[in-house]
Amino acid sequence: MSDRARPVAHVVPGGPLLVAGAVPLTRLERIDGAWRLSPPLETGATYALCRCGGSTRLPLCDREAPYRCFEEGAPSGVVPKPFTWELPDAASPAIALKPDGPIRLAGGVPVRGASGALIDRGLRVSLCRCGASGCQPVCDGSHKVVGYREPR
Ligand code: FES
Repeated sequence: MSDRARPVAHVVPGGPLLVAGAVPLTRLERIDGAWRLSPPLETGATYALCRCGGSTRLPLCDREAPYRCFEEGAPSGVVPKPFTWELPDAASPAIALKPDGPIRLAGGVPVRGASGALIDRGLRVSLCRCGASGCQPVCDGSHKVVGYREPR
């Protein structure tokens, strides 16, 4: 596998999550009381996921570099509380969008910051996509507090 094809998610400060490596993007859906994954959404091998909820093309970001979608402060040091993990438990890299909630990465999608530093190995992490988390880029449950609703 070449470096170009390797799955990775880059966090743009105040901007989207840039995903490379043909990582399948799905939605978490609750059907008959059970969580399931939708069929993969149509994306290219690379795509930009909105992290502020303000895009007109959700779940994708509708802007171009340098983005400047929202003001992202320094992480507060708040550690996210443990939360229920429904899906995906992927053997290979996968990304799933929780309804009105975070971006779930599983199966090894390394999350890197602006400098390229590793933030998380992406084996099982939830990243904020409402813009309100106090510990960006990780979801801290604030989407429930601010009542984030993804347009449908
Ligand atoms: S999606 Fe923003 S805090 Fe959870």
